[in-house]
Amino acid sequence: MSSSIFPIGVFDSGVGGLSVLRAMRAQMPNESVIYFGDQGHVPYGPRSMEQIQRFSEGITRFLLEQNSKLIVVACNTASAAALKYLRGRFSDVPFVGMEPAVKPAAETTKTGRVGVLATPATFQGALYASVVERFGAGVELFQHTCPGLVGQIEKGDLESNTTRAILEDALTPMLEKNIDTVVLGCTHYPFVIPLIQNIVGEAVRVIDPAPAVSRQVRRLLDASGLVNESGKTGNTEFFTSGDVAAMEMLFPKLLGEGGKVQAVNWVNDLEIILR
Ligand code: DGL
Repeated sequence: MSSSIFPIGVFDSGVGGLSVLRAMRAQMPNESVIYFGDQGHVPYGPRSMEQIQRFSEGITRFLLEQNSKLIVVACNTASAAALKYLRGRFSDVPFVGMEPAVKPAAETTKTGRVGVLATPATFQGALYASVVERFGAGVELFQHTCPGLVGQIEKGDLESNTTRAILEDALTPMLEKNIDTVVLGCTHYPFVIPLIQNIVGEAVRVIDPAPAVSRQVRRLLDASGLVNESGKTGNTEFFTSGDVAAMEMLFPKLLGEGGKVQAVNWVNDLEIILR
């Protein structure tokens, strides 16, 4: 059986990767997906590289056991901490990861001042340093980790005063520095774009990297001869290492439709079994 009809594995620390799944569904409706949210360990942002590498390896093994033909690390934090590690451990598996969209921001900013919102582990990683070195010349970058924002979005709290206050703490000083672009360097953050745009105003461009990441997935599928040509609409299976009901409750708000989630347990930091 050709592996092109096999699913694409997508994972994040929680529901953040659903922002990438949305873009993939819009661009590649024939592809099936297995989505894994590691809510048993979220947030990843404050964790060590080694821990994130172990979690990412365990999740990758699980997704490969489900016949995933390509793995999308739909998590900036896991991409920063583990993408190179995963490519070394699974050298025959195609991977697509995230990187903060400094390149398009630097190409379009008029004021030369760009805000970047991401987690501590993303900012500390070599990947972000490399992105800044390759694409950040000539622009001034203002960074903020938005403490607590991932937790708010994991609760489905996308517009409360608490969520607004976290974003205002990050964005108000950036606006005072005259930024005209905000880069979303965490896959959770596209779910609060309406609130971000309300705070920064319509003149400031907010960049969600998900559509570009989805285009990269398509390019890699093409290059690998793995595009699903069946002509049938793909389906999506969801797994969580956390609370099934809590994740299912978020789907209408985040995906605009319902979905069933299967539960898994971590046996240790590296092995996952179905509950
Ligand atoms: N959504 C993830 C990211 O893009 C991780 C957030 C977290 O778990 O701290 O970084």
